[in-house]
Amino acid sequence: MAEAIEARVAGPLYGSRERACWPDPLVAAYKQLMQRLFAPHLGWLAAVVLLSACVGVNQQTPPAPLQPTALITGASRGIGFELARQYAAKGWGVIATCRTPAGASDLQALAAANPNVIIEELDVTDFYEMERLAVRYEGVPIDVLINNAGILGGNDRQKFGTFDYKAFDEVMAVNVKGPIRMVELFINNVAMSEQKKIMNISSSVGSVKLAFPGQNFYKASKSALNMSMKILSKELRGANQRGRKEIIIGLIHPGVVRTDFAGPVPIPMIEPEESAAGVINVIETYYTGRRQSGDFMSYTGSKLPW
Ligand SMILES: NC(=O)c1ccc[n+]([C@@H]2O[C@H](COP(=O)([O-])OP(=O)(O)OC[C@H]3O[C@@H](n4cnc5c(N)ncnc54)[C@H](OP(=O)(O)O)[C@@H]3O)[C@@H](O)[C@H]2O)c1
Repeated sequence: MAEAIEARVAGPLYGSRERACWPDPLVAAYKQLMQRLFAPHLGWLAAVVLLSACVGVNQQTPPAPLQPTALITGASRGIGFELARQYAAKGWGVIATCRTPAGASDLQALAAANPNVIIEELDVTDFYEMERLAVRYEGVPIDVLINNAGILGGNDRQKFGTFDYKAFDEVMAVNVKGPIRMVELFINNVAMSEQKKIMNISSSVGSVKLAFPGQNFYKASKSALNMSMKILSKELRGANQRGRKEIIIGLIHPGVVRTDFAGPVPIPMIEPEESAAGVINVIETYYTGRRQSGDFMSYTGSKLPW
């Protein structure tokens, strides 16, 4: 394992990511077709033109958001939107991603008033869309990657005896698989940034110690997210070798927040403004070294049990 990490760290940062280009077999087939239709040398010419077009697409100048930069998933509403708003107010560059930019009216208004906010379309269950976004931002430092997008999956669909296993897959795809893939795809961007942080909006209900009945899939998804990121916090620790600063991974419970997430429940809730301010504060404390990479924190700044 140590050698594997070493090899990755020794490479050009963390190795190359897949390129949004035609795969080789397709280019070869295209070339063959051209050769059959026209002269052999024309086939080559067509293939060269096609390849150049691919390279051209990949080498387009990426957007240059202000530094420092935060990339936030699920920024259309709720905590994600508020994080985008508060980072923008602090003068950060914000890459605010959401599934349906046209429908995200608050985010559109924020971007219209702040040139430092860039809206990007992203569904964290759509790997192709994620890879395309990663290619688009290749070479752009991202100081804080925030995996915020999350779903509850519906209370009624996760009751023992009538479990809806489709809900299990949906919840795991958004809350666990999506964040892991985001880290893989944007690790180079984070590694080349000043702050080098990957922050995950988790939940205290993912704590095994604090377990209580209900919302089985959702709670399991946050435990899984915690474990996966904890492992990464250890695997990426070697990144401070060869003069590179360590990548810091955080897990943050945002509080019980009044958003569309849980709907109207008769329990005390905080507003998204307070939650996001607390989360940003905790993200900053990870920077000072008071927080260890991989720590599980509440938005209040207190440590949570696993
Ligand atoms: N609210 C709470 O009390 C609470 C407590 C603990 C943890 N959390 C966590 O906090 C995070 C944010 O929750 P919230 O309260 O702000 O919820 P919310 O108001 O329901 O917002 C959820 C966000 O996630 C996005 N999203 C959902 N599925 C997505 C997908 N497949 N790809 C990309 N984006 C997707 C939504 O986008 P659309 O607009 O396109 O649907 C929306 O922007 C979640 O991870 C949640 O688990 C919340």
